[in-house]
Amino acid sequence: MKKIKELQSLLSKVLVGESIDEINRLAKMYLEDVGDEYEGRIDDDVKKFINGLPIQYITNTQYFYGYRFYVDSAVLIPRPETEELVYWIESDYKESKKNIQCLDIGTGSGIIPISLAKKFANWELIGMDLSSSALEVAIKNGADLRVAVSWIEQDILNSDQWKGRYDVIVSNPPYISLEEKSLMSESTIKYEPDIALFSEDPLLFYRKISEFASKHLDEAGTLYFELNEFYKVEIHQLMKNYFSDIEFKKDLQGKWRMVKAMHPLS
Ligand SMILES: C[S@@+](CC[C@H](N)C(=O)[O-])C[C@H]1O[C@@H](n2cnc3c(N)ncnc32)[C@H](O)[C@@H]1O
Repeated sequence: MKKIKELQSLLSKVLVGESIDEINRLAKMYLEDVGDEYEGRIDDDVKKFINGLPIQYITNTQYFYGYRFYVDSAVLIPRPETEELVYWIESDYKESKKNIQCLDIGTGSGIIPISLAKKFANWELIGMDLSSSALEVAIKNGADLRVAVSWIEQDILNSDQWKGRYDVIVSNPPYISLEEKSLMSESTIKYEPDIALFSEDPLLFYRKISEFASKHLDEAGTLYFELNEFYKVEIHQLMKNYFSDIEFKKDLQGKWRMVKAMHPLS
């Protein structure tokens, strides 16, 4: 009780202008994540708060799909919208007994394949990323959460390296255009990795991954994307070149956030 009051008072001094509710939320989250280490690290961590470092990077913790994940500045901080994408996959496959081969492209901290591995013990899961430092985080999370996921370092934009056959391909690719930078929070721009956020052409990954999936997905397989709400029409248009069956879904905030595609045309 004393700690939470002390922390609330410290944070309200350093995070000037932040609402009481937000201060209370951050204080509670911080205490839950650092536990007994509080006394030894609070002074240093307050300095990090002042510099705007996201709390998830301060405590190296983010919860996703009910599991505790390690995160650091090599990876995007997992967002709740992505839980909805995982839930869509889980709902679609919960009755299936098939041994599914699933590839997650741009796996970052590994949240998607690790969460799926927790739900489907018989799936073979692979997480791919271009960033070796992101993969180090994913490997740590796979080990901490005791799941067998394979990790590969690969650039999905390089079609010479394309291989494999999958039942499920999923991706939350970098999808923010440079023009949208001005709409983003300062701490995201300053601290989260550019490689995870931005694409000069916000459709590039959708085009490339759709092409890859149309060649490497099983006939009865499914491709799932998280998407940029501002590009639904364009993404639909380009995916029609590769798939005959395309379905969009809104997130809990009512934004077009996910799409799945089946029946590759090639
Ligand atoms: C939006 S983040 C998604 C991270 C994680 N899947 C999530 O949902 O939190 C996109 C990821 O794609 C990776 N990435 C960027 N360019 C890539 C490329 N050309 N090939 C493979 N992965 C790439 C980034 O390193 C980053 O981890």
